[in-house]
Amino acid sequence: MKETSLQCLLILISLLSCTTNQARLTVSPSSSQFFDYDSVSLSCEEDDSSAGWTLRRNTSREQRTQCGTDGWGKPAGSTCDIVAFHLDSGVYWCESREGPISNMVNLTVTGGSVILQSPVLPVMEGDDVTLLCKTMTTFSNLPAAFYKDGSLIRKQPAGHMTIQHVSRSDEGLYKCDISGHGESPSSWITVTGKHTTTPPPTSTPPPGSTCVSPSLFSLVLTVSFLKSVCVVVLLVLLVLLVRRQVQRKSEREELEMMTSHTVTEKVVVNNSQ
Ligand SMILES: *[C@@H]1O[C@H](CO)[C@@H](O)[C@H](O)[C@H]1NC(C)=O
Ligand SMILES: *[C@@H]1O[C@H](CO)[C@@H](O)[C@H](O)[C@H]1NC(C)=O
Repeated sequence: MKETSLQCLLILISLLSCTTNQARLTVSPSSSQFFDYDSVSLSCEEDDSSAGWTLRRNTSREQRTQCGTDGWGKPAGSTCDIVAFHLDSGVYWCESREGPISNMVNLTVTGGSVILQSPVLPVMEGDDVTLLCKTMTTFSNLPAAFYKDGSLIRKQPAGHMTIQHVSRSDEGLYKCDISGHGESPSSWITVTGKHTTTPPPTSTPPPGSTCVSPSLFSLVLTVSFLKSVCVVVLLVLLVLLVRRQVQRKSEREELEMMTSHTVTEKVVVNNSQ
């Protein structure tokens, strides 16, 4: 009996550590493109700091290098600060010692003079998205042309463009152009389904979700079933334990009453003699 409850407890604990084992990579300022010498902060927003999340990246020149220890970035808690340079362009992610990884983020740093500020994280279907075309040298926004997958989609006098109620068809590679200043690099905009719609069976779990890989995902499902079983078993054990205690108590009381009766009877008998 004792061993089963101990096992249940262990399973519960491992479950808890599994569900807290997640991180989300965020970028501040929120943009997927930067100019040389811009300051950028990348944060592993973690539920469990003891998991030891580290920020890693792949660039065109190096793979899986870590912030602070591989010659780039300055770690500050769960944040990594970089002064961007075009060689910092690449894909960034957070990784824990145990293996799970966060969402990935593509950053592009340009030595050019125009950037497109587009969402760095996937956009939710139905949301509005604003794209901003910026030059390095002017503070005011200049007229800009926006392109998707290589074709012109809009010319905007104020340099920004809002796509209302984005849908999957808005997903693609975007760039912009400011006449007289140049063209921005291209950035991919990802559109994800609404929370309310059930994802198709082929889709991977959303970024930052529990225990990233699909096999672990099914494991989590199995374990959450075990969790419910554990809870039921623990409850039953508790009820049995309480009932036994109550029974013992009443038995003891009965016994005490009987013995005290015999004692008084004896006393009465003694007195009458
Ligand atoms: C980073 O590079 C490694 C080694 O080439 C590769 O295995 C891994 O898939 C890359 N990760 C990303 C996110 O591109
Ligand atoms: C990063 O960029 C590559 C190449 O443009 C693209 O295939 C990939 O889907 C992007 N990843 C993310 C997380 O946006």
